[in-house]
Amino acid sequence: MSAPTVLVTGATGTVGSALIPALQARGATVRAMIRNPERSVPGVENVLADLGDPASLTAAMKGVDAAFLNSPSAEDAAALQTRFADLARSAGVYRLVVLSQYAAATDSPVRFLRWHAEVEAHVEGLGIDHTFLRPNLYMQALLGFAGAISQGWFGAPVGDAAVSAIDTRDIADAAAAVLTDSGHTGRTYNLTGPRAVTHAQIAAAISAATGKPIAYQDTTSEDFAAALAAFMPPWQLEGLVEDYAHYARGEAAEVSTAVADLTGRPARDIADFARDHAAAFSGN
Ligand SMILES: NC(=O)c1ccc[n+]([C@@H]2O[C@H](COP(=O)([O-])OP(=O)(O)OC[C@H]3O[C@@H](n4cnc5c(N)ncnc54)[C@H](OP(=O)(O)O)[C@@H]3O)[C@@H](O)[C@H]2O)c1
Repeated sequence: MSAPTVLVTGATGTVGSALIPALQARGATVRAMIRNPERSVPGVENVLADLGDPASLTAAMKGVDAAFLNSPSAEDAAALQTRFADLARSAGVYRLVVLSQYAAATDSPVRFLRWHAEVEAHVEGLGIDHTFLRPNLYMQALLGFAGAISQGWFGAPVGDAAVSAIDTRDIADAAAAVLTDSGHTGRTYNLTGPRAVTHAQIAAAISAATGKPIAYQDTTSEDFAAALAAFMPPWQLEGLVEDYAHYARGEAAEVSTAVADLTGRPARDIADFARDHAAAFSGN
């Protein structure tokens, strides 16, 4: 697809904000889907739409060749995404690239993985040109622990299990390739970092980048949930605990070459991520 017009959902989010410049670098025309005009993305067309508002989505899809579907973490995430996919097909969007999650499966004990699998199955049945991207744990999720890390430690219920965490900038670069190149129809790509790392190794990488000692402390699921209970609703907290139990079982340690295969360069290592975000982890 040469110089397509691409609708980017979640344009203000972690992956979407990195995807926009990556698409522009590949010559695509970007339409950023935003909810709040005060958060408009500079340098591209912005369209106001909400995944919960079908009419706004149909308007946003007009004249679009390809769409990147990235759902927020929401209790109705599967319903929002399946409806978006239906509307995309009706609007004549040629290609749909869906941000799913590593190990998505209908029988997973992790609710988020079941929800992503539900969306994938629905999209497969639509007959629209589609590709699924299944990223593993985001390195950028560690920024949520930055406050504790700047005090010298962080905790999670993951033990010494290794996880092939990925930098969201690499998800964006891989997505840009899939949205603009041919040959990805019907494919599912597991997107991971270049190696699987334990949380102790993550702490060591951040420590090296900041020049400060940082300790990783294994916690129980109960303590982890109690520490986060004030910050998210129960369904999300329970889902997060399920995610971490999945990591702790060693189920997310596989390393894929998809980022390098799709982008032509190696995926960023945890050391790269830590160096680029050293200021945030230093409390600056
Ligand atoms: N975190 C991880 O480690 C990880 C790993 C694998 C997969 N994932 C998947 O990534 C997705 C979520 O990523 P994230 O939590 O990092 O979020 P994010 O993409 O950083 O942020 C959510 C984006 O969705 C937008 N948004 C929220 N509600 C919306 C609505 N009703 N309609 C349209 N747009 C809306 C937000 O816009 P506003 O600026 O308006 O709020 C924001 O741009 C989930 O599907 C999750 O399963 C996450």
